[in-house]
Amino acid sequence: MHDWAITRRQLLRFSTASIVTAGVTSCRSLLATRSEASDQSDENNNRVILPSTCVPLNSECPLKDQAASRGLIYGAAGKYKTLSADLDLANVLAQECALLVPENDFKWQALRPGLNQFDFSRSDWMADFAMEREMLLRGHTLVWYKSLPRWVEEQVSVENGEAVMVDHIRTVAHRYAGRMHSWDVVNEAIAPEPTVENPWRPSPWLDWIGPDYVAKAFHAAHEADPEALLIYNENGLWWDAPEGEAKKVAVLRLLENLKTQGVPIHGVGIQSHLRGHLMEQFQPEKMRQFLQHVADLDLEIFISELDVRDTELPDDIEERDRLIAGAYQDYLSVILEQPAVSTIVTWGLSDRDTWHSK
Ligand code: XIL
Repeated sequence: MHDWAITRRQLLRFSTASIVTAGVTSCRSLLATRSEASDQSDENNNRVILPSTCVPLNSECPLKDQAASRGLIYGAAGKYKTLSADLDLANVLAQECALLVPENDFKWQALRPGLNQFDFSRSDWMADFAMEREMLLRGHTLVWYKSLPRWVEEQVSVENGEAVMVDHIRTVAHRYAGRMHSWDVVNEAIAPEPTVENPWRPSPWLDWIGPDYVAKAFHAAHEADPEALLIYNENGLWWDAPEGEAKKVAVLRLLENLKTQGVPIHGVGIQSHLRGHLMEQFQPEKMRQFLQHVADLDLEIFISELDVRDTELPDDIEERDRLIAGAYQDYLSVILEQPAVSTIVTWGLSDRDTWHSK
């Protein structure tokens, strides 16, 4: 382990200190509490609600402090490619965020040039960056059906699939053990339109190992890094198209099964790639129920990849900004009612550096 290694507990102490030192009163003008944001009085009015208009980033009152003063961790995704080249972006990210999620640099495509090879150059740079800037680090992602290098398809099979997956998890999770706040252990295992008979999203890991690949991945991650929070991350949960409902049910069934089997899982990541023109498909009551079911399973909730796709919104910039701010407001005001929500991560911090602009 490098001599800059810091334990998760030390990092959490740092983040607790920022709660204590957060200039809550000086931040007041940038915040609307629930009782200010709505006419209803609400005993949960100590949670952050995003203002309905855009707020300029402000070093006096960073987003991380605003979140911490309400008991939340705020972070964003960032990547080696842009953070290493753009010091302004790097500075503002560290100023605003208590947590960094490497957007691509911990994926197989980045880490695994070959069956017996690992390349930690970019992931180490990101871990160093988080450490130097006193940010928590969140690993994304150990097992996913996507972002697999070509050799995986050619050299992995039913014979060696489990060994290859477990070796990857052990090696990577062990390397960053003690430095990871949390790991997305498995990403997107449930199909977009799951059925009771077959809830699984097609994945080579499913083909090679069977449905148990999820549980096996969590066990391996826990052995390699017993301190990190282990998260199941999933997409398509924010809206309520008919298939969205089936997806929530299937995800809850998976989580229940994992908990019943004693699998070391600590939380759920709800990706939350909102679509600005489809916000009428977000149904607050259904989301509240889903969040409560997750909380009843004693799992933490992360909003793990929040952003708003605006491609179908009107061209007028002011109107577009208003609708985007409204989408965040509508979504987060429901999400933040749930005390099990601990962490909010936006998928990037700047429109200049988002996967939506590619
Ligand atoms: C995306 C990145 O943002 C892009 O830069 C990359 O080209 C593809 O992957 N759900 C996930 C993330 O879990 O890993 C994806 O990130 C976005 C959707």
